[in-house]
Amino acid sequence: MGHSYRADRVTDSLPIAVLVSGTGTNLGALLETVHEAQAEIVGVASSIAGVPALERADAAGVPTAVFPRGEYPDRGARDDALADWIEERGARLVVLAGYMELLGAPFLDRFPDAVINVHPSLLPAFTGLNAIEQALSYGVKVFGVTVHFVDAGVDSGCVILQRAVELPHARDPQEVLAALRPLEHALLPQAVRLIAAGALRADPENPRRQLIDRAALAADEG
Ligand code: GRF
Repeated sequence: MGHSYRADRVTDSLPIAVLVSGTGTNLGALLETVHEAQAEIVGVASSIAGVPALERADAAGVPTAVFPRGEYPDRGARDDALADWIEERGARLVVLAGYMELLGAPFLDRFPDAVINVHPSLLPAFTGLNAIEQALSYGVKVFGVTVHFVDAGVDSGCVILQRAVELPHARDPQEVLAALRPLEHALLPQAVRLIAAGALRADPENPRRQLIDRAALAADEG
């Protein structure tokens, strides 16, 4: 995959859509950091009506929409409607922030190399649902967070950023979640900043490896 955000960039602020399904603390972190700065959140879409994430978006004056699974004949039809809405909003990056649905290849093909996700494990360990519970039952002593590009697999796209935390005595998923939250809330905005600055590119020797162009990032931030 090739990333060419810098060449594409026409404004200083990258228009992004955020997809949610629940609490929306990661959306909150994006609203407090990159929104109206390196990025502009042009829409928040939820798979579930009435979730706190939608209230956060409303409070910030960001347009919202709900795409419940039951209102469409199948996942593809829902993905199409969602992709249409994201395109209409003018988003050029789609950020999954606790979006609890899989997105099919036709959706991803409409936003090539432009869908990212935050996952509460050090990928490739513990993909899919209940990652923290999976890690606890495996008995690991190091937990962590990954921000990655989304491909058609489950949590299998290229890693953008990862951060670990040692919790050798952890037993309680809530305790681990509390430790991982600050990491998520730092890493997801940082990934958006990198992409907005055109500072991320695939290593030609191994396109799965995402290189960070520190000079591009510094130029953008300076
Ligand atoms: C986070 O733990 C994220 O890693 C996972 O879903 C959760 C979303 O939390 N993908 P929130 O809705 O952002 O508070």
